Amino acid sequence: MNISRGFMIIGSLYLLVGILFGMYMGGSGDHSLAPLHAHINLLGFTLMMVFGLTYRQFPQMTKPILARLHFWLHQVGSLILLIMLFMMFTGRIEQSAMNPIAPIAELAILVGSAIFAYNLFRNSKE
Ligand code: HEM
Ligand code: HEM
Repeated sequence: MNISRGFMIIGSLYLLVGILFGMYMGGSGDHSLAPLHAHINLLGFTLMMVFGLTYRQFPQMTKPILARLHFWLHQVGSLILLIMLFMMFTGRIEQSAMNPIAPIAELAILVGSAIFAYNLFRNSKE
């Protein structure tokens, strides 16, 4: 799988979902889903596009296993976190039920981002 393309295509799908939530909020006047909408757009679309474009700009970053690790940690972490946020903001689960899975998903995103930063530091020289 091409890491750069994978990030950008999946990111663009998050954008569609994020816009739909934005339209729902605008239409209904119920803005309680704003943090969910914000993170679908930012964690899903914006970050994934930035990651995808960075791997495209510095192809040597895609060689090490680091890129794959980052990709999967970000994908799995974001999907789990955003689904749990959706369930919490729509009242399907209590806030207390976010533990311990949501913090683990956040940790996955954090570790993935640290791997990305390290890979960028090591492999982004022109
Ligand atoms: C047609 C597309 C969109 C619509 C209809 C829409 C609609 C909304 C609405 C109604 C809110 C709640 C505002 C409030 O309660 O103060 C909101 C918040 C937000 N939106 Fe969007 N949005 C759209 C696209 C986007 C995109 C593409 C991004 C980012 C890439 C984005 C980022 C945000 C953020 C970060 C917030 C939270 C702002 C805050 O809490 O201060 N939105 N949006
Ligand atoms: C695992 C990663 C992240 C976690 C756990 C997290 C957590 C949070 C929390 C708890 C809030 C406050 C929400 C509220 O007031 O109800 C927040 C707000 C916000 N975050 Fe994040 N965040 C993450 C990633 C990001 C990223 C990557 C971006 C931008 C690229 C971002 C941008 C924002 C913005 C703009 C707000 C204010 C919007 C709003 O509350 O509606 N966050 N975040």
